[in-house]
Amino acid sequence: MGKRSTVSMKDVAALARVSVMTVSNVLNKPEVVSPETRRRVLEAIDKLGWVRNESARQLRAGRSASIGLVVRDITNPFFSDLARGVEQVAAAAGYSVLLSDSARDPARERAAVELYQQLRARGVIIAPVAHSPDREFARRLDMPVVLANRATDYRGACIVSVDNVAGGQLATAHLLESGHRRLAALGGTADIPQIRDRRDGATRAMLLGDPAARMLTISTERLDIATGRSAATTIVAMAADERPTGVFALNDLVAIGLLQGLVAAKVAVPEDICIVGYDDIEFAGAAAVPLSSISQPRAELGRRAAELLLEEIQAADIGAGHRHRQELFTPALVVRSSSMKPHRVTNSRSAVPQRS
Ligand code: RIB
Repeated sequence: MGKRSTVSMKDVAALARVSVMTVSNVLNKPEVVSPETRRRVLEAIDKLGWVRNESARQLRAGRSASIGLVVRDITNPFFSDLARGVEQVAAAAGYSVLLSDSARDPARERAAVELYQQLRARGVIIAPVAHSPDREFARRLDMPVVLANRATDYRGACIVSVDNVAGGQLATAHLLESGHRRLAALGGTADIPQIRDRRDGATRAMLLGDPAARMLTISTERLDIATGRSAATTIVAMAADERPTGVFALNDLVAIGLLQGLVAAKVAVPEDICIVGYDDIEFAGAAAVPLSSISQPRAELGRRAAELLLEEIQAADIGAGHRHRQELFTPALVVRSSSMKPHRVTNSRSAVPQRS
């Protein structure tokens, strides 16, 4: 049996021949303890293998050094990259991060936030499901909240997000500029604000592009790889003169599934159908046909959300005022093979430049 579970602060104090208060001071206010006493206490801790029960200590003090994070879909690497950014900033400031996956369920999101409150987390970052959390819920929360990946006109919390309208416009304009006239916007539904905004951006690009171009919107319940694969079946079944030649997949998981489904059906990417995804997760560039994508600063979004949350927590600690901020990042187009349409060489003569 290890000693760690039974050894207490009292044992440390007895071995070091000091009071429990002195042991506590060595840990929390070492500057008030003489170097010799400090040495004795640290030696005793070492010898007994004592580990302080941090959660018990925080509960006694009525506070904790943790923050909560709820994401809408932990299976999507976009959210794990965001979580990594939150963790980096929190860890550097001495906070631990409690992570929950709402799995696109507003009730689970709310339950996670309430649990964080019961655990006395100092604040929470929410990458929300659709339109949640509602304003009333956020107002009633007795802790700072930052919303991540969600542009809204709500002014009751700090918000960090990426301009999804600009992203949708970039992706669609790229397909139009590459010569596509039959396009499709694939994935999600308009009740997911990010998807609605990406679609709005696509519509804007269509209005500015060739009036002869058409864009088909294909809604799906989920935004995952299986969804992309089954969309490939739908697209392959379309008549050749109706089938889109350029697909804007509204996230990379859908794009990866689509690519897989098309390749399995012997539809060549990019020769027959070009694809642009969204998020630029690591797997996009690593796909068998590297995927073009709209890049979002995923980890930076998490870092900034954590910085804003810690600023608000620290302001509350010293009784200073805090002004909520809404920060919007700009997305960028990353062009890879999946949308670089090579010219099919049908015979050797057509590939050779003709002299006049
Ligand atoms: O939350 C909706 C979408 O936003 C996710 O699928 C991911 O693409 C993120 O950017």
